[in-house]
Amino acid sequence: MGKKILVIYYSQSGQLGDIINSLTAPLIQAGNSIETIRVEPATAYPFPWTGKAFFAVMPDCVQGVPGELKPFQLKETSYDLIIMGYQAWFLSPSIPFNTILNHPSVKAVLKDTAVVTITGARNMWISAMERIKKSLQESGANLVGNIALVDKHANFISFVTIFYWMFKGKKERYLNIFPKPGVADADIDHCKVFGSAIEKHLSSGQYNGLQDELIEEKAIVVKYNLMFIESKARKIFAIWAGIISKRKNKTAWLVAFKYYLIIALFIAAPIILTVDAIFFKPFLSGRIKKQKQHYLGVN
Ligand SMILES: Cc1cc2nc3c(=O)[nH]c(=O)nc-3n(C[C@H](O)[C@H](O)[C@H](O)COP(=O)(O)O)c2cc1C
Repeated sequence: MGKKILVIYYSQSGQLGDIINSLTAPLIQAGNSIETIRVEPATAYPFPWTGKAFFAVMPDCVQGVPGELKPFQLKETSYDLIIMGYQAWFLSPSIPFNTILNHPSVKAVLKDTAVVTITGARNMWISAMERIKKSLQESGANLVGNIALVDKHANFISFVTIFYWMFKGKKERYLNIFPKPGVADADIDHCKVFGSAIEKHLSSGQYNGLQDELIEEKAIVVKYNLMFIESKARKIFAIWAGIISKRKNKTAWLVAFKYYLIIALFIAAPIILTVDAIFFKPFLSGRIKKQKQHYLGVN
């Protein structure tokens, strides 16, 4: 008999919606009943973004301040599986997704229920996911699978192209020189394979080994340099967020943060990575392997 699945997510551009449609196609084909909720913030975030609005969400993202969603009603009081689509904003769960996690009716159905999380990120989703893992644990959910799709181009290229996408609202090639921003269409299509793996475990009700199968299919790839930059940036973002949230006039501080971000990525990060590659990384291979294993996993 088909199982009951709740799919809940927020997507601004629709990219995460496309990812979820690809993921759930095999689950629908197998005869499961799927209830999909694409939440909407009570006040929509602008898309395309203005520079000011984009940076203005940083402190609340980093500090985990939930927002408000337009009301929605779940049809069931319990589900066999919940698929949650999230996006990282400033290395944190996006405000709409954080609001989903804290929503009383979502929390009620999360308890004792198998959960699969999926994101379509630029390339830094680890810190956001660590916070989501913690929140799911607090809600008593059973995280059984995690999938992270990313833009696979070099970090500085995806930095340029995502800003073009976010500020122009078009997922198109910037100047016809840069590659298309976001997650590649082929990677979105490949999500069907993850959906089939999930279906196998859903029908047996036994999720042991699901995450290993997903990893085998490249549902998550953890790259050392990105993991390293993210771990440093997360702490620095927290300091910026702490300072900015206390200011009455935040505008000048947010502009300073914007320039910090550009300098950090294009100047500081390559220097720090080079120093690390020479003096630290060669002596920390055991620790790095353990860290990667942790981020690949669901605990
Ligand atoms: C305000 C903002 C901050 C973002 N910060 C990050 C980030 O820290 N790491 C990352 O990988 N992607 C980041 N992104 C990209 C999103 O995770 C996501 O890939 C993109 O917004 C498309 O998602 P959508 O389906 O909601 O349109 C950010 C996007 C926005 C709008």
